Amino acid sequence: MNVTIRPATKGDLPAIAKLAANLVREHHATDAKRFLLVEPVENGYTWFFSRELEAKDAVILAAVTDDDRVVGYCYGRLEERDWNALLDAHGGLHDVYVDASARRSHVAEKLVGAMCDRLKDLGAPRTVLMTMTSNVAAQKLFAKLGFRTTMLEMTREST
Ligand SMILES: CC(C)(COP(=O)(O)OP(=O)(O)OC[C@H]1O[C@@H](n2cnc3c(N)ncnc32)[C@H](O)[C@@H]1OP(=O)(O)O)[C@@H](O)C(=O)NCCC(=O)NCCS
Repeated sequence: MNVTIRPATKGDLPAIAKLAANLVREHHATDAKRFLLVEPVENGYTWFFSRELEAKDAVILAAVTDDDRVVGYCYGRLEERDWNALLDAHGGLHDVYVDASARRSHVAEKLVGAMCDRLKDLGAPRTVLMTMTSNVAAQKLFAKLGFRTTMLEMTREST
């Protein structure tokens, strides 16, 4: 599949919000107590990403087919020093999602590579991300691109 990776535009946001909503619902379906679901997710993301499109520290990339279909997106931003996480200023890669119809064609690889380049250009010395422990496909993707495993989040319900 031939895709172009480019900065997202306002016109891409409805399609990107649908992909982001899939990402949220898939996380919620895995562990409904840990991963929030606030419906309608698409509206929330359209609002949030419209704001992020204007932010100088945020990056939203779209993967677009030759016939102008958005089949994937990636969202990241420059993050400040975080003492709680013992994490200096860095690039945070928050979302990457590829539509099921476009998977295993290296679309995510291109999106994440382009995101790391953009965050570096913005001054990030490194890029940090989180992924579900059960998401082996994502972990293989990130490992292939040079990410190392650094933290394991644990959750306990209050009793
Ligand atoms: C994970 C995801 C982004 C991968 O997208 P993709 O475009 O299919 O991935 P790519 O084709 O770029 O794959 C690049 C590499 O990642 C690994 N990979 C990707 N999907 C994989 C899978 N299903 N099983 C095993 N390895 C996989 C492989 O190493 C692959 O390289 P290879 O094809 O040379 O073996 C996609 O499956 C997705 O959107 N999943 C749901 C959302 C999600 O999990 N996002 C990440 C949240 S942190």
